[in-house]
Amino acid sequence: MSASELKRIYFDHSATTRVLPEVEEAMRPFFLEKWGNASSIHSFGREARAAIEQARKQVANLLNADPAEVVFTSGGTESDNLAVKGVAMYKGKMKGHLITTKVEHHAVSEPCEWLKRFGFEVTYLPVSSEGFVDPGEVERAIRNDTILISVMMANNEIGTIQPVREIGMIAHEKGIPFHTDAVQSIGKMHVDVKAENIDLLSLSAHKFHGPKGIGALFVKKGTKIEPIIQGGGQERGLRSSTENVPGIVGLGKAAEIAKRDLEHTCARMKNLRDKMIKHVPELVPRAYVNGNKTRRLVNNAHFRFDFIEGEGLILQLDMKGIAASTGSACSTGSLEPSHVLLALGLTHEQAHGSLRVTLGRENTEEEVDILLEVLPGIVSKLREISPFSAERPMGPGEGASCVQ
Ligand SMILES: Cc1ncc(COP(=O)(O)O)c(C=O)c1O
Repeated sequence: MSASELKRIYFDHSATTRVLPEVEEAMRPFFLEKWGNASSIHSFGREARAAIEQARKQVANLLNADPAEVVFTSGGTESDNLAVKGVAMYKGKMKGHLITTKVEHHAVSEPCEWLKRFGFEVTYLPVSSEGFVDPGEVERAIRNDTILISVMMANNEIGTIQPVREIGMIAHEKGIPFHTDAVQSIGKMHVDVKAENIDLLSLSAHKFHGPKGIGALFVKKGTKIEPIIQGGGQERGLRSSTENVPGIVGLGKAAEIAKRDLEHTCARMKNLRDKMIKHVPELVPRAYVNGNKTRRLVNNAHFRFDFIEGEGLILQLDMKGIAASTGSACSTGSLEPSHVLLALGLTHEQAHGSLRVTLGRENTEEEVDILLEVLPGIVSKLREISPFSAERPMGPGEGASCVQ
């Protein structure tokens, strides 16, 4: 079959998602007809302002927040930076203690590392072998000078859903602001900032069928936070710069759709996820599921295969038209295993042999069946050329019941 005839299957929705036609349609007038600056007082400006405020309501509605608590940013990374640095440096403070985890996205851990340069201290909490943070450990890590607790809602690699409600309760009992990175959670689970005791929450439109380069930070009323981008005072002074009106409109529409379709899309994705989690370890010898089988995002299946390199697997799948991702990032020519997988206690070799399959609302059972059909052959072909596999002969079904 030629490359042009190949049916392309996208299983990398944690990386990004397709903009939905409804979202694109909502955005289009704001490029071509309604292109005013929302700060202008003439009708062009008022039109843009009204669209922004409508989007703010749509995002607030998704989170059970007040519209005045939504700050638009350029995406998940900026929202995380604003939450971490903005709270830490409130009123020019240059010291204090932050609590976070070893499995956060770099958009949280790098700002924490940056703060250390100025004298802040950071505790990185460990996780269990399934990736869970223990709320008891959060409580024990709190000090008199703790100024922020940041624990992600669900992990971007293995999909583990953290006990944020309990952690938020602990934070509130001690009067400490609680931030959660919910970038991967929106559209995949119910998110309610009030019920879950959240003070700050990051989200990013492109992870739930909105456009790239736009996101939001929920900031609960009364939270003490400083802007990290100063200028013309947009977004009530918390995020200066002329608003990205088409992006904000797209985010609003994507938020509305995420809420409207949540139950239906989650049920569909969960069925497909469970099918993969059940069948991959049955079909492929020495294949294991990373993370918990059920307390994970409905769209996330994450596997580990002994004796192979994830990159080889991704390339072979790509040749069959299937887009997925692995647990190691190739940077500056060296392969760094994922910090998340290492935090679970996996060895470098184990972490390298991983595959992340992340579903979207448009994936079908037929596509999952194609993956299940081609995967065993690709893994065994890669093992034939692996220097490790010859030392340890494998039988079919070996390791099938071993889930970590
Ligand atoms: C958990 C998490 N946080 C933050 C980000 C960064 O979001 P953005 O790409 O919008 O900057 C990502 C993106 O992969 C993510 O998965």
